[in-house]
Amino acid sequence: MIPAEKVIVALDTQDPEQVKKILDALKGYKVWVKIGMELFYSLGPQVIQEAKDRDLKVFLDLKLHDIPTTVSHALQALMKHPVDMVNVHAAGGSEMLKMASSVVKSSVHKPLLIAVTQLTSTTQSQVNDEQHITGSLEESVVHYAQLARMSGCDGVVCAPQEVIAIKKICSPEFITVTPGIRPLGTSMNDQKRVTTPMDALRLGTDYMVIGRPITQNPSPLVALVSILKGS
Ligand code: C5P
Repeated sequence: MIPAEKVIVALDTQDPEQVKKILDALKGYKVWVKIGMELFYSLGPQVIQEAKDRDLKVFLDLKLHDIPTTVSHALQALMKHPVDMVNVHAAGGSEMLKMASSVVKSSVHKPLLIAVTQLTSTTQSQVNDEQHITGSLEESVVHYAQLARMSGCDGVVCAPQEVIAIKKICSPEFITVTPGIRPLGTSMNDQKRVTTPMDALRLGTDYMVIGRPITQNPSPLVALVSILKGS
């Protein structure tokens, strides 16, 4: 069984009717929803309240990455909204992460602050040849996780395969949020390396982000219930 509180449903759509249909289907379950750039930029902040009206927790996934002052001012503006988790890029550096942490911790709603390490779409050769970082992709992810932890973040976004190494170096309580989750028998879409919900749970992930396997199912609720049962 997968605890509902560990599931974050990615609402990647611009269609207000589809959003409403999915939010209504999820109402009554203790799952989270993820509002990313596509949805936030198309429908605006009111979608946060629509989720909260259905008692759903909200991960505002805008992946802020800019100079420290700009990120902290942007977060101050976002902190008006009742969100439960927000994120920034660890590559923004310790000064930016510390300022972000200070804004979030002194806000009214005090959401969890999560740092993106390496995107799960990034490959080993991109890390070495394009970012010019030596060493393995996992070493880079663990390094960013340590930086995020030392700078006051509550956790990181990473691949399920990286959870054990991150928890070992940072601490078991340091939160891991993992996309790239696919129940058996569902399409991989554009994800390259996928993990089943049960395997992600075994690897120790705190929150698993699942989008299309739920949102593109004709019945999002049937898909969710099947995932919670451990498919
Ligand atoms: O539909 P799917 O389950 O692939 O959705 C995964 C979600 O997680 C998408 O919103 C995607 O943008 C996000 N994500 C990801 N990989 C990352 C960070 C975020 O797939 N490294």
